[in-house]
Amino acid sequence: MENYKKIKTSDGSYTYYSALFDENCHSTSGAKNETYTHYVLGCKLDRKVVQKKPINILEVGFGTGLGFITTLEYLGKYPFNFLSVEIDEKMIQIAQKEFSQLLKLEKICAYIYKAKIQNASLTILLGDATKTLNKYFKENKYKPNTIYQDAFSPKRNPYLWTTSWFKLLKENATDDCIMSTYSSSSSIRKSMLAAGWTLQEGIKFGSKRSSTRSDLCLATEDTILEKLKRSGAPELTIKIAKDYKL
Ligand SMILES: C[S@@+](CC[C@H](N)C(=O)[O-])C[C@H]1O[C@@H](n2cnc3c(N)ncnc32)[C@H](O)[C@@H]1O
Repeated sequence: MENYKKIKTSDGSYTYYSALFDENCHSTSGAKNETYTHYVLGCKLDRKVVQKKPINILEVGFGTGLGFITTLEYLGKYPFNFLSVEIDEKMIQIAQKEFSQLLKLEKICAYIYKAKIQNASLTILLGDATKTLNKYFKENKYKPNTIYQDAFSPKRNPYLWTTSWFKLLKENATDDCIMSTYSSSSSIRKSMLAAGWTLQEGIKFGSKRSSTRSDLCLATEDTILEKLKRSGAPELTIKIAKDYKL
């Protein structure tokens, strides 16, 4: 696992560096706090619990497993479904080792891992999400109402930030879905908007100026629309995923 360096972050939690994408899975300002801020708070899980709504999550990028573990710790016994995608099987092995007490994953076929932990059901689709997720949505009645858009940066992982990617998510999400992401780049915001998502300023974390939330029950904020009109950054449109040598 020498290509997957373990790194301690400022809040004492750990992230991993992926040589495949040449990027850390989290901000060094705090892997755990970042996950909690952008996804647990960003997707307003507290409201869903208070309103006793079902929680059906889609996470883009399973990585170290911290997204799932942080959600499990937050929700406790509250039931939820967690669907994630991961192109790199070594990351799944790392997650299993890191959280071996909780994560007892079973590979049920060539491209699906599953686990039942407390009241949570976890499914991980192995392979390129631009292909696996579409297939999964066609074959299963799973409509996420919560999306953790946690791919690597648009520079390293562009095809998980394109307009067609966000369209796939939008077409399969519920009408009251909340999607949250750490990125606030104008390009990704333009792609999200073109795909039918609304845009609100998300919660700031670490050294980043902002983040992005799309709560479909809310309209797009005027200040964001004005900024996008002034920005020359293009919407992201690459469709074909790079063929990674894993
Ligand atoms: C920023 S990390 C995710 C961090 C994760 N949420 C966590 O809590 O540790 C992004 C992940 O997306 C995965 N990934 C990149 N491209 C992918 C693709 N096309 N399909 C599925 N997963 C992909 C990477 O291997 C990496 O593990």
